[in-house]
Amino acid sequence: MTKMRRLGVLTSGGDGPGMNPAIRAVVRTALEHEIIPWGIQRGFQGLIDNDMQEMTARSVGGIIQRGGTLLGTARSPEFMTERGRMEALRNLNKNSINALIVIGGDGSMRGALELHKQGFPVVGVPGSIDNDVYGSEMSIGVDTALNTLLQAVDRIKDTASSHRRAFLIEAMGRNCGYLALMGGLAGGAEMVLIPEVPFELEEVLNGLRDAYIKGKAHCIIIVAEGASHRATEIKEFLDTHKQETGFTTRVTILGHVQRGGSPSAFDRILGSRLGAAAVQALIEGQQGIMVGISKSQAAYTPLEEVVSKGKPLDMNLYRIARILEK
Ligand code: F6P
Repeated sequence: MTKMRRLGVLTSGGDGPGMNPAIRAVVRTALEHEIIPWGIQRGFQGLIDNDMQEMTARSVGGIIQRGGTLLGTARSPEFMTERGRMEALRNLNKNSINALIVIGGDGSMRGALELHKQGFPVVGVPGSIDNDVYGSEMSIGVDTALNTLLQAVDRIKDTASSHRRAFLIEAMGRNCGYLALMGGLAGGAEMVLIPEVPFELEEVLNGLRDAYIKGKAHCIIIVAEGASHRATEIKEFLDTHKQETGFTTRVTILGHVQRGGSPSAFDRILGSRLGAAAVQALIEGQQGIMVGISKSQAAYTPLEEVVSKGKPLDMNLYRIARILEK
């Protein structure tokens, strides 16, 4: 690789708290090595639209505690086309940017791999509240999102107990039940419904009835977005069987509340470490990899492997959650 003089950084896909600390770390680590950092706006779309500019140590001042991403983000269908990627490479070339750091989830790592395949030096950093990126025990944003969910669960539990109600709390996670499962485990939920474990509506009804018979004052059910049935659909079903459950039911859909907010200490540190490690990896001549975290250390995984291997949920944790919901 020719000497890295200008390094681009972008955030892509769903944002997550901790992306700003990661951007800050990329910019300041680059400057430390006399590399000029460039910020690309709105992910891969900004590459196509040539929406990018030089960054300084000051342009990332005061952002470590802010949620979202200073650079903006997008899901770019255009980048999935040959033509879009050609435009992106042309603009990188035009601005003399000769390496790139991509912060985002599995879709973003797919985009990064496409650039790598074209011979462009790129390193990925996992950032997604879903925690479904292979090659990292945690992705940036997960810890904060989980704590936001947990806070909601605790609050809902207070009112649920007062009214002797069941609550369906819908957590984010289209394809992955990580947030719902961990939220259930940490929040002491009576039931966790996740995409990894298909279920019938009758099973939820039975769970509700069991909780009532056991003498519980509430029944907290955490439903991942991608579970077999959405929270509203489950409520409709339970409402038609009200007499059989003992509880009345309410629904809270947390949605994007889980994606925003000030990053936790964990996410600030994770973002800072991975951002710095990504620059370091490029300096050492590594490319086409993602820098994640494993056993508290930076871990390097080829992007090819990151995108081809899914990150399965630890089903042992699901079994523990089931035991503890008694
Ligand atoms: O991938 C992160 C995530 O928050 C998922 O949990 C959720 O299903 C999806 O993004 C929502 O995407 P959007 O913000 O585009 O509606």
